[in-house]
Amino acid sequence: MTSQTGLQVPPISPHHVLERCRELVEPALREAVQGLHPWPRLMASFSLGWCDAEGTPGAFAGGKGMRQALAVVGAEAAGAPVGAGVAGAVAVELVHTFSLVHDDIMDRDERRRHGASAWKAFGTGPAVLAGDALFALAVETLAAADGGQSAAALRYLAGALRELVAGQADDLLFEARPWTGPDAVDLKEYEAMAAGKTGSLLGCALALGPVLAGASPLVVDALARAGRHLGAAFQAVDDLLGIWGDPGATGKPVHGDLLRGKKTLPVLTALATDSPAGRRLADLLGPAVPLDAAGARRAAGLVERAGGRDAALAQARRHAAAARECLYGVPLAPRATDELLALTGFLVERRL
Ligand code: IPE
Ligand code: MG
Ligand code: MG
Repeated sequence: MTSQTGLQVPPISPHHVLERCRELVEPALREAVQGLHPWPRLMASFSLGWCDAEGTPGAFAGGKGMRQALAVVGAEAAGAPVGAGVAGAVAVELVHTFSLVHDDIMDRDERRRHGASAWKAFGTGPAVLAGDALFALAVETLAAADGGQSAAALRYLAGALRELVAGQADDLLFEARPWTGPDAVDLKEYEAMAAGKTGSLLGCALALGPVLAGASPLVVDALARAGRHLGAAFQAVDDLLGIWGDPGATGKPVHGDLLRGKKTLPVLTALATDSPAGRRLADLLGPAVPLDAAGARRAAGLVERAGGRDAALAQARRHAAAARECLYGVPLAPRATDELLALTGFLVERRL
C-alpha cells in the first residue's frame, strides 16, 4: 500500500495503533496522576485532556498519544515485557505533557488542543507547578517500574531531558536572532535545535521500554535513532501546521511562530533559496521589527512561493524514510515493527 506521501506503509491503521496503546497506557497514567495533591492533579488532568478547568470530566481533546504509542510499540518491537512498555509510555507521556505545559508559558501560547493552555486556565505559577508535578511523577514511575534496569532507564530519560532543555534554550535564543545577515540562524542550527527539543524525546519514547527491560544495545540504538528521525519529521510537520494548519484540526491558531520570530524550517528553507520570493521574504523579515498579522500573512505567502512549504514537507518525508531505514536488519518483532511503520506514515501525513 502506498500512502499519500509516497511511503510504502503496511495496511495497519495508525488510528487503531494509537487507540490500542491509549487503552493499554491510560489506566496506569490515571493511577499515577491520582497520587498527586488535588490542585496539581486537577491541572495535570486538564493538561492530559481528561477534564475541563473546573475538573468536570468529559471528552476533551487530549493529545494524539503519539509518544505513548511509540513507547509501547518500541518496547513490543524489542520483545520487552508489557509492563516495561507501559511504564516507559507513562513516563514519556508525563514528560511530554510537562514539556508542553512549560513550553506554552515560554512561547506565550494561549491555546493548546482546542482549549486554553494550562497557564491561561490556571495562571503561570500554578502551571509551572503542574509541570513539576508531571515531571516528578514520570521519575517516580520509572524508578518504581519492574524490569530490573530502572536506574539505566532513569539515566536514559534524564539524558533525553537534558537534550530537550538544550533544544528549548536554542529555540528561545533563536527568537532574538535575525533572519538574515551574518548572525542569522542557519539550517544546521535549526536541525540541532529541533533534534534537541523534539527528537530527543521521540528517540527516548522508542527506546525507554527496551532500556528498562535490558534489551540489547543494538536494538536500543536502532530504535533510538529511528525515534530521533521521527522527531525531526514531526517537528518539520509541526512547523508547517503552525503556518498552514487548520486551527479547527490542530486546536491552535496559525502564524504564532511567525509573529514571535520563531525560526522554523519552512521559513529558513525559503530564505535559503535564491529566488525572487525568497529575496522579498528576506526584505520583509530583515528589519528587526516584529511582524504584525498582515505581515505574517504576507510572509506565509512568500514562504510558499519560494518553495519553503514543499521543501519542509520533503524534509519530513526524508526523515521518515531514514527512520524506516534504521529498523532494517535489526532483530525486531515483525507485527510491532509494522505498527511502528504505520505510525511513521501518520506522523508525516497528519493534519493535527
Ligand atoms: C515544543 O516545541 C517542544 C517541547 C515542548 C519540548 P514547539 O513550541 O515548537 O511546539 P508547539 O507548536 O508549541 O506544540
Ligand atoms: Mg510551543
Ligand atoms: Mg516552543
